[in-house]
Amino acid sequence: MINKYPFATLLSSGVSHVLLKALILLATLAIFIIDTLTYLDIAVAVLYVVVILMGIRLFSQKGLLLMSIASIVLTVFAFFLSHGIDFESSAFARCLVSLAAICITSALAMGNKSFQDALKRQVQILGQTHDAIVLTDLQDKIELWNPGATSLYGWHFDEVKGRSSDDILATQYPSSRAEAKEWLTSHDQWEGELTQIGKDGQPVIVSSRWSLIRDNQGHPTRILITNNDVTDHKQADAALHQAQTELAHAARLSTLGELAASFSHEINQPLASITTTGEASLRWLKRDPPDLVEVSDCMNRIINEARRASEVIKRIRNLARKTEQVHAPLDLQDVVKESLALVERELKAERVIVKTQLKATPVMGDYIQLQQVVINLLLNAIQALASTEQRYRQISIVLSDANPAVCTVNDNGPGLSQEVAGNMFKAFVTTKATGMGMGLSICRSIIDMHGGAIKAQNREEGGASVEFTLPRLEEVSSD
Ligand SMILES: Nc1ncnc2c1ncn2[C@@H]1O[C@H](COP(=O)(O)OP(=O)(O)OP(=O)(O)O)[C@@H](O)[C@H]1O
Ligand SMILES: [Mg+2]
Repeated sequence: MINKYPFATLLSSGVSHVLLKALILLATLAIFIIDTLTYLDIAVAVLYVVVILMGIRLFSQKGLLLMSIASIVLTVFAFFLSHGIDFESSAFARCLVSLAAICITSALAMGNKSFQDALKRQVQILGQTHDAIVLTDLQDKIELWNPGATSLYGWHFDEVKGRSSDDILATQYPSSRAEAKEWLTSHDQWEGELTQIGKDGQPVIVSSRWSLIRDNQGHPTRILITNNDVTDHKQADAALHQAQTELAHAARLSTLGELAASFSHEINQPLASITTTGEASLRWLKRDPPDLVEVSDCMNRIINEARRASEVIKRIRNLARKTEQVHAPLDLQDVVKESLALVERELKAERVIVKTQLKATPVMGDYIQLQQVVINLLLNAIQALASTEQRYRQISIVLSDANPAVCTVNDNGPGLSQEVAGNMFKAFVTTKATGMGMGLSICRSIIDMHGGAIKAQNREEGGASVEFTLPRLEEVSSD
């Protein structure tokens, strides 16, 4: 049968308590009788010490105190019964020796008992924690395994005792065990995330903390491991990440819908030009003699226009792509330039002038998602400007390559309305009849995922200013 509670077993003895108590009572009686009735020249009462020592395991501190008092009373009583009030005799000296022995033993026994009680309480607390606590030697052989470890991994202490914890749990390290041990040896502790396999074959992700235990000479002897189950947390994180990716994708598709008119125009224009240039080249060919110089000129123009159309299609396809987040080094300047190209027609349609102050700004991030942020900010600014009657409409984009890098999109539109100023980054907050109120909320979740921040405010000279920050590349890579 498997012992579920090795800790409790360590503390409780197999010997029946009732039997022991009866034995103690009998021994006490026997000592008292021998002490009272016999006239041996030895301090019989010293034997009470044995009884007190036997009581350490059975009685509480209070019980031990009572036992000691009883022993003292019985010793004194036996002396008066057998010797009367003869304080000059050697029997009285023996009585005093016995009393001294009983007092000293009692004091030591109670001290020992209080230490044992404290230890017992600590072990019980250790047994109750939900964390898995495992003690191994330096070769990873398991010496202790608390109930938390049993409920986390499904293995009982008896099954794993003396075996390698890494073998049993198929531990996967962030880099390697050797590296973790090297760090442990030099810092006396190590922390990291481990992926392990429980008895049921299910993976368990734990946040693991190791402490190196040293002996009195400072030599390492054991490793105390505390593992905290973060599997659910990790899965929730992954699900959230997945949901965010899906949402960002859905939002990109809806943005593409908004841009559909300009895309069809941008593709139609080169197609129309290809058709007319193709017809023209046919006419040059039909001449007698055919004018091949003009034909080749037309062909070049056709190739260029076809390239232009295919560029537009490529940009749309990239934006529509449903991809997992890909973090890679990129230049924020490229992101801004390409986003401007994508909304070029909207800008023209609303007669918006764009001013840029751009410079190379290396950051780490997902190109498509950051492009989505910039497009959202540009569309918001264009829509805000479109809602006004003003003639001069301007958007300015400024990139500062400080650390963190800052991208600011300013417009000279109506500015943020009181209604949304405090919560425009929340989902479904919109002042537009056809708006979903998702644009800025998605921008914020993307920027958050990139370790940056986004905020919006009104400009003193009128209009709105939305800026986001991103850690610069050097900062990210040096982490
Ligand atoms: N440049 C800006 N000037 C004035 N108001 C703005 C500006 N940018 C955003 N807002 C305000 O913030 C609100 C929320 O913007 P958000 O982009 O989240 O949603 P939306 O543009 O209304 O809809 P969606 O982007 O989902 O189509 C807008 O409705 C608008 O009131
Ligand atoms: Mg918007």
